[in-house]
Amino acid sequence: MSFPVNRMRRLRSGNLIKEMVRENTLSTSDLIYPFFVDENASEKIPVASMPGVFRWPLHMAAEAAREAVDLKIPAVLVFGIPKAKDAAGTHSYGDSDVVQESVRQIKAAFGDKLLVVTDVCMCEYTDHGHCGIVDMKTHDVINDETLPILGKIAVSHAKAGADIIAPSGMMDGMIAAIRSALDDNGFENTPIMSYSSKYASVFYGPFRDAADSGFCFGDRASYQMDPANGDEAVRETQLDVLEGADMLMVKPGMPYLDIVYRIKQEFKMPLAIYQVSGEYSMIKAAAQNGWLDEEKCFYEAMLSMKRAGANMIITYYAKEMAEILAKK
Ligand code: PBG
Repeated sequence: MSFPVNRMRRLRSGNLIKEMVRENTLSTSDLIYPFFVDENASEKIPVASMPGVFRWPLHMAAEAAREAVDLKIPAVLVFGIPKAKDAAGTHSYGDSDVVQESVRQIKAAFGDKLLVVTDVCMCEYTDHGHCGIVDMKTHDVINDETLPILGKIAVSHAKAGADIIAPSGMMDGMIAAIRSALDDNGFENTPIMSYSSKYASVFYGPFRDAADSGFCFGDRASYQMDPANGDEAVRETQLDVLEGADMLMVKPGMPYLDIVYRIKQEFKMPLAIYQVSGEYSMIKAAAQNGWLDEEKCFYEAMLSMKRAGANMIITYYAKEMAEILAKK
């Protein structure tokens, strides 16, 4: 035979046949929309390094969430910027602090129409910007002193009405500490979405602008993971699973698709991927320069996340994506 028997192009010959053999699709129900509520703001403040992203004032928290509800996005992830920071992050767990108030307003407005996920971490609330209590002599984050505070934050979020608790601080034992704090306070049915493999990544740069959570000394490499490691992500995740995590996460997204694939294969659990601030800003910047087609670019990026095995995508592009999917 002078020609190949197998011709891959047969199944690429038109849109109908392509749709028929398509292995992965994106759906609005995959999306989680993250946003920032700033207790100090009186109006929407644009985040310079993330065009299209704002810090919302507290009185507009439900307004921010309404955009997701209107587009049928099932979940939001709420980050808070408190009115005051101190070394112990005391404004992270008060009943009327920024996240707790935001959650209450959002749940009052939308009830069961929207899942509210809350980020549980101390870095937005500490004046040094680290994710826990710091030993000021050694500048080390003291793991075991941080755990009860994470438990308190989680309980305060659940009391305010949070549907899912998402701890992002990468402290050892944090899932167990949060699980038992939730259980002891009657929230045994509140699921935990663990940021189970969170890398010490430069791609978080713009977020630290948005959430005002840069640090005044050191970096987060003593608790977040080394980007060089893959096996370690499996071990980290295994511990979170044993401690009671209900859902897992890989963060950042696109540079870590191998980790997404491995974690999905290994644990077969609901898995989120976080397309982080730097990934968003890179696409925005290229698009603003006319170098990339923005919509096609984030669509392809998210499709690759589904292909790797993610079930949920946390993305600042959630609204734009939902708009595209609604038109399809
Ligand atoms: C920690 C937290 C961070 C992000 C989400 N939760 C910042 C960090 O660990 O430095 C980053 C998200 C992003 O870059 O979009 N509370």
